[in-house]
Amino acid sequence: MLKPHVFVDRRLAPEVEQWLSQHCELDVWNEEDTIPRDELRRRLAQANGFLTSGRRIDDALLEAAPLLKVVSTISVGYNHFDIEAMKRHGVIGTHTPYVLDETVADLTFALMLGAARRVAELDRYVRDGNWKRGDGEHLFGVDVHHATIGIIGMGRIGEAVAKRARFGFDMNVRYYNRTRKPEAEQKYEAVYAELNELLAQSDFVVMLAPLTEATINLMGREQFARMKRSAIFINVSRGATVDEDALQEALEQGLIRGAGLDVYKQEPIDADHPLLAYPNVLALPHIGSATTKTRIDMAHAAARNLIAALKGEIPPYLVPEFRS
Ligand code: DGY
Repeated sequence: MLKPHVFVDRRLAPEVEQWLSQHCELDVWNEEDTIPRDELRRRLAQANGFLTSGRRIDDALLEAAPLLKVVSTISVGYNHFDIEAMKRHGVIGTHTPYVLDETVADLTFALMLGAARRVAELDRYVRDGNWKRGDGEHLFGVDVHHATIGIIGMGRIGEAVAKRARFGFDMNVRYYNRTRKPEAEQKYEAVYAELNELLAQSDFVVMLAPLTEATINLMGREQFARMKRSAIFINVSRGATVDEDALQEALEQGLIRGAGLDVYKQEPIDADHPLLAYPNVLALPHIGSATTKTRIDMAHAAARNLIAALKGEIPPYLVPEFRS
């Protein structure tokens, strides 16, 4: 029987590529640079399956891929899928939840601790030869332990963050979510709050809500103005959940103490982006899930999703919008 044809837009761990090649004719983009759009269209012309690290899937791309049945993304977020376009073209989408929850929660804490204790800023201070005397107030930060954390979006990653906050750092946990989470409330002594209330009460406001129409620019001028002036804003979700101009204004006017960002509206963010001019902004290059083990686990999960779908089975992590 003919094996299905699969295109992968980035090198994967050898064991994952090996596993995939047992099940399909595998075509992998081996270059460091992102595959150009025209080349991608050319490579997808024969493909039954596409395994991607976040490529935008829209009508224009799908028109170039008449044999495509499934797009499997190596990410939990799938806001790069135009779901309606995929449905029109008879293509389903899968993603990789669960395997990255704890890893993204670790990174959330790295940003919280890093921003609170000014880790990157003070690393530069030492390297630049500015450490001339003992420590002084100019090096002080704020405590994470026993502070109040407000989690926007209490999904699985939100819960992993709440667990660390409650049991690792003795924090008071507030959360805002589409639906109440009674189990999480019990497990982490998490208190549900409406968004405005959460913003006013929290020392750390952590954005974890997935990007949807309802969450675009969820944090805007009004929301930053409601935060405590001593509070730190963290984003590990998607850049578009935040109005970046409003965030910049809040930093400029001292409405908040600082920010820890892993995601941006435009990625990669330009080095001369105004947000990066603030020493109290800690900026990372979208590495929430980027540990070797987790990325291999995600690639395995994405590969299994893809092959299951090509065999006509229901893939383990079919994107909810494609469930009938
Ligand atoms: C995801 O999987 O959606 C994360 O943003 C990756 O870091």
